[in-house]
Amino acid sequence: MDLNVVILAAGKGTRMKSKLPKVLQPLAKKPLLSHVLETSEHIDADNITIVYGHGGQEVREVIDGLHPELPLSWIEQTEQLGTGHAVKVALPELKAGTRTLILYGDVPLISEQTLQNFIGSTDEQGCGLLTIRLENPQGYGRIIRDTNDQVTAIVEEKDASESQKQVNEVNTGIMLVNSDLLHRWLPTLSDNNSQGEYYLTDIVKMASAEGISVQATVATNRMEVEGVNDKIQLSKLERLYQQNRAEILMREGAIFADASRFDIRGELTVGADCFIDVNAVFEGKVTLGDNCMIGPNCYIINSSIGDNAVIRANTVIEDSLIGSEADIGPFARIRPGTITEAKVKIGNFVETKKSYINEGSKINHLTYIGDAEIGKGVNVGAGTITCNYDGANKHKTIIGDKAFIGSNTSLVAPINIGEGATIGAGSTVSTNAKANALTVTRAKQLTITSWQRPTKKK
Ligand code: UD1
Ligand code: CA
Repeated sequence: MDLNVVILAAGKGTRMKSKLPKVLQPLAKKPLLSHVLETSEHIDADNITIVYGHGGQEVREVIDGLHPELPLSWIEQTEQLGTGHAVKVALPELKAGTRTLILYGDVPLISEQTLQNFIGSTDEQGCGLLTIRLENPQGYGRIIRDTNDQVTAIVEEKDASESQKQVNEVNTGIMLVNSDLLHRWLPTLSDNNSQGEYYLTDIVKMASAEGISVQATVATNRMEVEGVNDKIQLSKLERLYQQNRAEILMREGAIFADASRFDIRGELTVGADCFIDVNAVFEGKVTLGDNCMIGPNCYIINSSIGDNAVIRANTVIEDSLIGSEADIGPFARIRPGTITEAKVKIGNFVETKKSYINEGSKINHLTYIGDAEIGKGVNVGAGTITCNYDGANKHKTIIGDKAFIGSNTSLVAPINIGEGATIGAGSTVSTNAKANALTVTRAKQLTITSWQRPTKKK
């Protein structure tokens, strides 16, 4: 049977105290709503409808931009009259003979597995609830069962009697209902309750009255059903998420100096025995080979690091490929388009960009390498600069195998340094340098013995 997902995302989020709509607040650098959408995509929803309201235009623009591949239907709920009303405005999207899973845009960490299990254990013709038992059920709708343990109603906290408030099984808000039932029931909801809202939860009473069984699936992971209403909850969920991701990585073989001081904002794949020191941040798609060492305070974005590579403290690597047994940093800045082969060394205060560096070459100190192709076994001395930009265009520097670039050299591109060439320290080289020869461009050293230091005038 076809599955619709309806995501309720119209709420104002007043308690966030933010100009950014609540469902766009970031968790692991991704909007809350994006987390729910990615999970919806994984469970193979045939149709995804987002009920939006506050900050609607902004929400639509950001989300459509982030998920261009998803066929999303956007339904505006101009007035927030309750969860039942929110699903009611989405009814035109819910075809007969389908079923509908209701998710919340501010409950970001619901997992694919929990939803699959919920979908699998709910009767296609009926109605299912995802519930959870909480030590402190305050604020949630309580699940009311009869003497046969059948669910007969959900009572909101504000409408609950003292004895109903004692119930610790609560409604997570996530429901799965045959769409035909929603079409029949939602138009008949009333707002005659303490909040004057149309409660989606009232459909449970309707099912019970018609003898349609309501199946409750009890979730076990609290984090998955936790909602975000303010920035404190957002930060707690962020930490739980990060802790959870660190645990997944440890099960895959990673070692953390401190798993609570680690941030992942995307996808990280690790080989065996990678060591990740404190405050490492991984963003986008990052792959670490086996036995990599990531030092403290490294920031690695959309990059791949080869086996046995060492990335030392405070190194930033973006959109780059680092070969095996590389030794990078501390304080290196590897900018987009850097590709290094095996055993390359890049040391402190070196910046590289759009450059290919072949096996075993060393760029150890205070250097800028941009738009360059560096051969094998090259030694680039301290303070070397590839002058790749003439103020209008970029040009390439090509350095042959085993070349030696003396310290404080400027290589004015376009330029070619031959294999085995040596460039004397302090040279500004603007025409090609011959292979296996010494090229020096600085003025000859003079010694003037008659020279006197100036003295102060009286
Ligand atoms: C709801 C449930 C409660 C459950 C709790 C779980 C109802 C009546 N109550 O209560 O049983 O324990 O969630 O967190 O369903 N929304 C709209 N349009 C509206 C109203 C709400 O889109 O008109 C969206 C909100 O943005 C939010 C979600 O629906 O994402 C839940 O709304 P909220 O008002 O927070 O419901 P609760 O009172 O917490
Ligand atoms: Ca809520």
